[in-house]
Amino acid sequence: MNTNKNAVAAAQLTVGGKTLDLPVFEGTRGERSLDISVLRRETGLVTYDPGLVNTGICTSDISFVDGEKGLVLHRGYNIEDLAEHCMFLEVAYLLIMGKLPTLEEQKSFTNLMNEHSMIHEDMQHFFRNYPEHAHPMAVLSAMVVSLSSFYPQLDTESVTERIDNTVTRLLSKIRTLAAFSYKKFIGEPFVYPSYKLRYCENFLNMMFYSPVRDYIIDPLVERALNLFLILHSDHEQNCSTTVVRTVGSSGANLYASISAGICALWGPLHGGANQAVIEMLQNIYENGASVKNVIEDAKRKDSKIRLMGFGHRVYKTYDPRARLAKKACRELLGHLGMRKDPLLELAVELEEAALQDSYFQEKNLYPNVDYYTGIAYRAMGIPTNMFTVVFAIGRLPGWIAQWIENTRDMEQKIMRPRQIYTGSPQKPFVFTKDR
Ligand code: ACO
Repeated sequence: MNTNKNAVAAAQLTVGGKTLDLPVFEGTRGERSLDISVLRRETGLVTYDPGLVNTGICTSDISFVDGEKGLVLHRGYNIEDLAEHCMFLEVAYLLIMGKLPTLEEQKSFTNLMNEHSMIHEDMQHFFRNYPEHAHPMAVLSAMVVSLSSFYPQLDTESVTERIDNTVTRLLSKIRTLAAFSYKKFIGEPFVYPSYKLRYCENFLNMMFYSPVRDYIIDPLVERALNLFLILHSDHEQNCSTTVVRTVGSSGANLYASISAGICALWGPLHGGANQAVIEMLQNIYENGASVKNVIEDAKRKDSKIRLMGFGHRVYKTYDPRARLAKKACRELLGHLGMRKDPLLELAVELEEAALQDSYFQEKNLYPNVDYYTGIAYRAMGIPTNMFTVVFAIGRLPGWIAQWIENTRDMEQKIMRPRQIYTGSPQKPFVFTKDR
């Protein structure tokens, strides 16, 4: 990581008669940041920035999002090139190791994935004891943190030389954990991973194979899943990644940090939006609501309703991942003979109406990555409550890369923000008899 930050300018802050020269740094894509690390020490002030809208919490070499231009880079490569030319595992390798793998590296990475794909047999008891209606995101998060007790040797220290066991274990086993949580949910026997299958094929097979019916993996479904995982693979300092970095900053292990990230992803304002989008579309379709009314409801200041799958903290233009997802979704549905899927038609109609509405135009609200993925997952046969699990499988390499970068960064400290206390000033203690 490039920690050799050179100030390109300085800003002066005058407070209480004291003037501070604060350095301004510039990233490789020209974005500028004001270094306020001495602020409290020199002035006694802290910053107030709800939602960390203006706060850079780290320097990072991993990914870059230009929300004005609609550009996403992973280790410098455009997401569109990666989506067109790579398998998900190549992108995972790129994010974690910082370079695209050679053929040899790819082969040994795939072999490692195969070696680590099973989970300890005793872990199956955990799945069996969850209630039928358990949400797979809750199960996944619990299972990932449980890996730290089954595989306590955490050897991520060596990751710069080779993809180490903890990392490959996690990347490989997450598919198995995800598919087992689905099988538990539908009450079918678990399907073990197979050394004969590729990363996405294996996941599809563990999800859909059953002893009473053959499951033939459709190469186009595998390709689409591969693409969606790539689209999700990293996205700089989003909510769940910040959680992974934050938990990791306390010295917590990789499994614990990722497990917390999974919980953050679950929320409907973040990765859980892919489930919320389908629920919204289904609701509109079943209740025959008009697109116009849905848009009007989403615009109302006094309602909590939002157009799910729309808007983003960083993008002020069309999310390039949403564009790729929309195209792949159309191709997939066409291939599966579902060109006239009513939810896809409704989603397109809703998108067009929103993009023509001045409210959405003025606030720069466009479809985000979650808007079309759910329609494609549904066509693949993935149930709604597994959508965010698929997102988590895709985001895992990004979380791992960011966790490693954070733990290696000599400038990082335990994440411990400040607050502006607005509670009661100190008061005398009241004994029980006097309350
Ligand atoms: N529908 C209607 N209005 C919206 C929407 C939406 N989807 N998104 C934002 N707005 C409005 C807000 O009401 C706000 O209006 P105001 O300025 O009049 O108060 C303005 O646009 C800015 O919105 P904020 O909430 O301040 O933007 P923020 O950056 O905090 O939130 C977020 C981004 C959470 C993604 C938001 O756009 C949203 O809730 N979208 C719907 C949920 C969603 O799709 N989440 C997935 C995001 S992608 C991902 O995490 C993988």
